[in-house]
Amino acid sequence: MKKKWICALAALMLLGLTACENRQETGTKDAPKLLLGYSQLGSESAFRIGATRDTEENARKYGISLMMENANQKQENQIAAIRSFIAYRVDVIAFSPIVEDGWDAVLTEAKEAGIPVVLVDRAIRTEKEGLYASMIGADFYREGRMAGEYLIRKANDLGRDHLNIVEIRGTEDSTPMKQRREGFRDAIAGDPRMQILDSVNGDFLRSRGAECMRELLEKYGDQVDVVFSHNDEMTIGALPEIEKAGYVPGRDILLISIDGGQEAIDILKEGRINCIVECTPKLGAMLMETALKLAAGETVEREIHPEERTFSDYDDLDALEPRGY
Ligand code: AHR
Repeated sequence: MKKKWICALAALMLLGLTACENRQETGTKDAPKLLLGYSQLGSESAFRIGATRDTEENARKYGISLMMENANQKQENQIAAIRSFIAYRVDVIAFSPIVEDGWDAVLTEAKEAGIPVVLVDRAIRTEKEGLYASMIGADFYREGRMAGEYLIRKANDLGRDHLNIVEIRGTEDSTPMKQRREGFRDAIAGDPRMQILDSVNGDFLRSRGAECMRELLEKYGDQVDVVFSHNDEMTIGALPEIEKAGYVPGRDILLISIDGGQEAIDILKEGRINCIVECTPKLGAMLMETALKLAAGETVEREIHPEERTFSDYDDLDALEPRGY
């Protein structure tokens, strides 16, 4: 391990890559227990920024040296980052894959180099065995189901016999988009009152959430009863468009969101969002514990899911702790 660390430091000095714009290193005062290379996919949301911060904080806490790259929403940047981690001979590689497909080649290179890989937050799709050791992240299918279950409860309480739903989806080919869409549909499938009018791609971005909402309202006007948005950023982007079109969010149009960042929770408390399914970015401690086990040659769990809940207009949220993201 010590030899590897010296090699990694030498490679860093030689290549002069420490000055690279997107790279951050979280050092430790004492000799680090291991060197972890982490490719974060971007900074598109409060969730993502919270996830980056939580990873850095936990690396410090666990005495792990972290080499963090931000891919700025580009898969090719993530692949390049993983290749640089292999070149540095880090002890463990972790990354949050922006999309599910297209990782076989680079992960085969990591496997051949004998470096264990941990997927954080999102999953990949592969036919190959043994390309990663563990996947730490939310159960996105369950999140989608919880969103649908809230809607059924709300429809019952409001006595509605029909609800037209529009969906603003996350990034194409990403795990949260695919599984939330599926979980939501499965939850409402047996309820004939629920009709999905349209589903559009908002890419998990606030700006796209606004554009999507504008277009949906131009197309469907007052037919829209419910917006199911795959994250808080897109929901917050959609809100002013609903208001500009003359509707009261939370009353004329029900809003269901996912993540549970502080800004969205505050809007939920105002009554302008009806329900938020939690998606926690606090995966850092689980990642550090898994990385330490892998570096020690121990076996790790193949899948690790955090506990998550729903926040809604049925709850008293006054005592809710600050969310921290
Ligand atoms: O992968 C998790 C999703 O990614 C979060 O719900 C979203 O906010 C983020 O961009």
